[in-house]
Amino acid sequence: MTLLKIRSTLFRFAVILSASSIEKSDRLSVKSTFTVMAASAAAASRKLHATELYVPIKPTQWPIVYTNQYNINAFGMQNLHPFDAGKWGRVFQMLKESGMLSEADIVTPKEASSQDLLFVHTQKYLDNLTWSSVVARITEVLPVALVPNFILQRILLKPLRYQTGGTILAAKLAVERGWAINIGGGFHHAHGEDGGGFCVYADITLAIRFLMASNPKIQKAMIIDLDAHQGNGHERDFLDDESVYILDVYNGAIYPRDLKAKAAIKKRANCLHHTKDEEYLEKVKRTIEEALNEFKPDIIVYNAGTDILLGDPLGRLDVTAEGIIKRDEIVFTKVRAKNIPIVMVTSGGYTMQTAGIIANSILNLKEKNLISKESGHSIKDIFPPEGNEESYIPPIKEVDAHPDKELLEPEKTMKKKQSEL
Ligand SMILES: *[C@@H]1O[C@H](CO)[C@@H](O)[C@H](O)[C@H]1NC(C)=O
Repeated sequence: MTLLKIRSTLFRFAVILSASSIEKSDRLSVKSTFTVMAASAAAASRKLHATELYVPIKPTQWPIVYTNQYNINAFGMQNLHPFDAGKWGRVFQMLKESGMLSEADIVTPKEASSQDLLFVHTQKYLDNLTWSSVVARITEVLPVALVPNFILQRILLKPLRYQTGGTILAAKLAVERGWAINIGGGFHHAHGEDGGGFCVYADITLAIRFLMASNPKIQKAMIIDLDAHQGNGHERDFLDDESVYILDVYNGAIYPRDLKAKAAIKKRANCLHHTKDEEYLEKVKRTIEEALNEFKPDIIVYNAGTDILLGDPLGRLDVTAEGIIKRDEIVFTKVRAKNIPIVMVTSGGYTMQTAGIIANSILNLKEKNLISKESGHSIKDIFPPEGNEESYIPPIKEVDAHPDKELLEPEKTMKKKQSEL
């Protein structure tokens, strides 16, 4: 009798407890859903100013964005950083020498203006960049603190503003053409209120916000961040924004180890020091498949850092040049098979091999017909229906050797290029 009473009391208590906890979690989730909706609605409803960055593309041009203004030529100062400050120019040079394109075949971006930058950055932060010591902290080049700010603006910040304008432009071109590549950009440690890890302007956030504010068809974005470092900049910017899905595969034991930003990652894979090709590519493939099953974005920003390269002093992973080329191929194959516009930015990786690997990867994408110049190029052209064998290029097989040996030896190509100069 008493036992029964106790039991029924306990039962009632449990029911009340669980009911109240359901109610509480419901209230919480309603509240957080509301906050998220309000936040993304506020961001999406912001009207875009009359920007000059959206340069039109000619039908004869590749949706590849680059200008010589990207390169940092700071009378030897670039040697103070483990850094190939001319990597962007070298990528373009190699693509030109390969015969793929010429100056007239690519789109020249404009420099992001203060008004453009203010779409994401605070005025306070931009003002702060007029202090050389602040720029030194963000770029991690300490002697920069001793350089007068007007010189820094010209030799360092201006190239980075051009690259930022390039990412914003390339994202729009990706929507028009199905894909686009900015040969620079990918400053994934910068966010609206601050920079870090050599990233001054939040080009990825800007590109997404610009698109959402200017094109009603773009409401959801995905960021695929495969740089060796955590992309804490865009993660902080989109922390409470359910319209942006972030996938991040990175080495969690190196900079920036940003726990607050980590909460924004929807799909994560951690890589330990010295992760090699097979394991790395398996992680990339699996996370992208899962992400694309969970979320259907209108645009994908692919942050294709090459600092995962074996021997990179910062990334600490052991992925080979072939592995990087394969990685980019996997990303483009999976994304283009779903017909989702993709914009690639080159991000981190500044050893002397980097430029050669990026150029070879772009050439490989072209060779595999994952990118093409034709306007309106869609997945139907990549995987045409059966019976159209002649133009059919089979989907990529598992870890296939590249047919062109030269392409896989960027180091050799680089040496040749250097001795040619
Ligand atoms: C400006 O820079 C200083 C020094 O690095 C930093 O302490 C401060 O938080 C920065 N303020 C803004 C708004 O970025």
